[in-house]
Amino acid sequence: MDRTLHGKRVLLIIGGGIAAYKALDLIRRLRERGARVTPILTEGGAQFITPLAVGALTATPVYTELFSREAEQDVGHIRLAREADLILVAPATADRMAQLAGGLAGDLAGAVLLAARAPVLMAPAMNPAMWAHPATRRNAERLAADGVRFVGPEHGEMAESGEAGQGRMSEPLAIVAAVEAALMDADAPLRRLEGRRAVVTSGPTVEPIDPVRYIANRSSGRQGHAVAAALARLGAQVTLVTGPVALPDPAGVTTIHVETACQMLAAVEAALPADLGVFVAAVADWRAAAAAPGKIKKRDGEGPPPLHLVENPDILATIARSAARPRLVIGFAAETDALLSNAQAKLARKGADMIVANDVSGDTMGGARNTVHILTQAGVEDWPELDKAEVAARLAERAADILETER
Ligand code: CTP
Repeated sequence: MDRTLHGKRVLLIIGGGIAAYKALDLIRRLRERGARVTPILTEGGAQFITPLAVGALTATPVYTELFSREAEQDVGHIRLAREADLILVAPATADRMAQLAGGLAGDLAGAVLLAARAPVLMAPAMNPAMWAHPATRRNAERLAADGVRFVGPEHGEMAESGEAGQGRMSEPLAIVAAVEAALMDADAPLRRLEGRRAVVTSGPTVEPIDPVRYIANRSSGRQGHAVAAALARLGAQVTLVTGPVALPDPAGVTTIHVETACQMLAAVEAALPADLGVFVAAVADWRAAAAAPGKIKKRDGEGPPPLHLVENPDILATIARSAARPRLVIGFAAETDALLSNAQAKLARKGADMIVANDVSGDTMGGARNTVHILTQAGVEDWPELDKAEVAARLAERAADILETER
């Protein structure tokens, strides 16, 4: 079972109506996917299912009208509302819809819904005539305009009357899918880089010595790939130029695979113009002056062959000084000693607008986490130790801030 809702806190308001029995299965389905479900059983809901049954399935206290009045000081409807990632009303009655549309907070569920900042998803269930009534239509429109999402109701036979029409609550799995979609939309960042082009370098470069040997380094490409993905999430059109890594190409990013520094430079130049360049790759500083065409052999008595190195082009410095310079140029600095002073020197020497300095004396290279310092002309900012994806997300937001001020 995919834990698609892992760690998500769903506040489930169980309204009145025979469909309340489906809420029990719904709780099970949500929890299977990793959600933490906090239930509020309304007075109406409690006519159909018991707090005991609900609590047994959620393995949490069940908030009911009675309980919450007694415990308001401890619990607080505001806290209940604020601690949720999503508020799900299932079943949502015509009465509940009317209350929220009118801004009424007559019971605990009503107060929670008014205090909510989290997205609200309703799964209505009612008699088809009630659903079709102009008053309910008006309320549904009002709620949708206020940002409330709906799943269902479906066409079908009503459990209590046998009447057919639209009004049956959606099945638990359809509601789970709507919960997943609502949470995904809520998590999606603003597409602040829509219409911007970005080029990102990532991974190591490998420089051949002969057909079987090469010079390489420990870069995994994790940080660079995360930066490319984070920029794409903000809507940028991203070209990622990467050396050999064991990572999949990030979704929604044009990925160009290269091996050497010279190939990387050529691929970056071909990806320009761009608004933004982020140079994360651990480019080999040197390459063999001439890679041997055949495998270099050991020869008795001659000792090891000399390895003549020449310097590789500095991709960041070349692009930062070129006519096609992106408006915003960000470099990384990998240092083991004198982190800040070395990084400061790189800012000027390479012509970058920003250097992200990281200490690579530990297991940063190849690891999942990173502690970075952001250097600009304005000064140094220290970020706490973060997941590389989080470093990337923050950096993408920062890049968007800078590009927005320059529009
Ligand atoms: N860089 C580059 N091309 C190179 C070398 C480095 O584009 N040939 C970029 C890196 O992608 C990074 C920044 O320059 O954004 C700094 O890389 P780093 O390895 O820290 O510095 P070096 O320039 O290699 O300097 P040193 O080896 O002396 O630390």
